[in-house]
Amino acid sequence: MNRKVVVSMALLALSVCATTGLAEEKKGATGEELFKLHCAACHPNGGNIINPKETLSKADRDKHGAKNVKEIVGKMRKPGPGMTAFDAKTLPDKDAKAIADYIVKSFK
Ligand code: HEC
Repeated sequence: MNRKVVVSMALLALSVCATTGLAEEKKGATGEELFKLHCAACHPNGGNIINPKETLSKADRDKHGAKNVKEIVGKMRKPGPGMTAFDAKTLPDKDAKAIADYIVKSFK
């Protein structure tokens, strides 16, 4: 094999990696997408249009037993008055966790 071929093969391999990397980044954004789909109607920008005392801000979540990912997923499974329940059929654990992750990171 001459050098040109080796270099172009290396470049090809690199670009394949870069494309896969991008696809995964996109996948990682689904927490936000799922939030917009399932939650944003009542929690626009992390607020709460039904019960303004229970927003998704860290201060409110800390007061209401939704401090971390695990507890937020618990809220989706067993919410309080006014919130839709999301069972594992509607939102598999993986998706529920992605949403919870997004909430923890986005709403301080
Ligand atoms: C129909 C409106 C509605 C939808 C849709 C909804 N919520 Fe809620 N949410 C509420 C209400 C009302 C409360 C306050 C009662 C309670 O604590 O469950 C609440 C409370 C919460 C809390 C606790 C916040 C606090 O400070 O007490 C979390 C966390 C939460 N929702 C997450 C979600 C997530 C995640 C989704 C989407 C998967 C979602 N909610 C969808 C209405 C909604």
